[in-house]
Amino acid sequence: MNRLAGKVSFITGGANGIGRCAAALFAQEGSAVVIADIAREAGEEIEREIRAAGGQCMFIETDVTEEESVRQALSAAVKAFGRINVLYNNAGASTRADGPVTMAPADEFWRAIKLNLFGTWLCCRHGIPELVKAGGGSVINTTSVAALIGLRNVDAYTASKGGLVALTRSMAAEFAPDKVRVNAIAPTATMTPRVVDLRKGRTVGSENRNLLGEAQPIDVAMAALYLASDESCRTTGHILAVDSGLTTT
Ligand SMILES: NC(=O)c1ccc[n+]([C@@H]2O[C@H](COP(=O)([O-])OP(=O)(O)OC[C@H]3O[C@@H](n4cnc5c(N)ncnc54)[C@H](O)[C@@H]3O)[C@@H](O)[C@H]2O)c1
Repeated sequence: MNRLAGKVSFITGGANGIGRCAAALFAQEGSAVVIADIAREAGEEIEREIRAAGGQCMFIETDVTEEESVRQALSAAVKAFGRINVLYNNAGASTRADGPVTMAPADEFWRAIKLNLFGTWLCCRHGIPELVKAGGGSVINTTSVAALIGLRNVDAYTASKGGLVALTRSMAAEFAPDKVRVNAIAPTATMTPRVVDLRKGRTVGSENRNLLGEAQPIDVAMAALYLASDESCRTTGHILAVDSGLTTT
């Protein structure tokens, strides 16, 4: 308990899946949590759950692909809680429209880049200055094992998540003098409701290669907790695979 005591965490995509699990965990560990998500109903539901459990939480309807929306959300978070110490860029998605580069519609490439890469870039653009003002902090980006090994059938998603690996390292170098750490988590397929649905009747080439079994949202949230906490104070520019051994095969 209290591994994040006194911190304020801004979590994008915190209304569902991994982000929702992390929001509840961060609140349990003493952080005030801001959930920035486009999904109002789910966002307000988890806000209520966290408050009912005694945590501090605020949902802000936010579209991470729109600069003004991101700017306003961060500003509202700072107004409510005074500062931001942790920026967890979790919002992102693959879709059924993705596939081999020769087959997927071009629109899917831009959808993936806009949400996964540009959305994170925008949140860093407006969020990192707040971390600097707070005297330093932790940025946690969300990439994927797709960026670390070759997986079939997800070329647009892979390109966007590969960009995040590079961006994580460059921002780590850039902002270390400001005591802002920038790391990323690379999950393997993690059993959120979205993934369970997406996988129906479809293969992404990673099944049966999770040596330690299927990953659950809490497995990724625990890695995020470590990166958010001061326990990882000497770790930056790192890509932490929560991959059940997949990338060793
Ligand atoms: N679940 C997996 O298997 C897996 C594997 C590797 C990486 N990831 C990554 O982990 C992250 C979370 O995945 P998940 O499976 O929990 O997803 P999810 O779909 O369950 O939740 C994603 C959340 O992001 C929100 N969101 C979507 N677009 C948004 C936008 N424009 N602005 C703000 N919020 C937006 C959604 O409303 C949703 O609440 C994503 O970046 C995903 O690419 C997931």
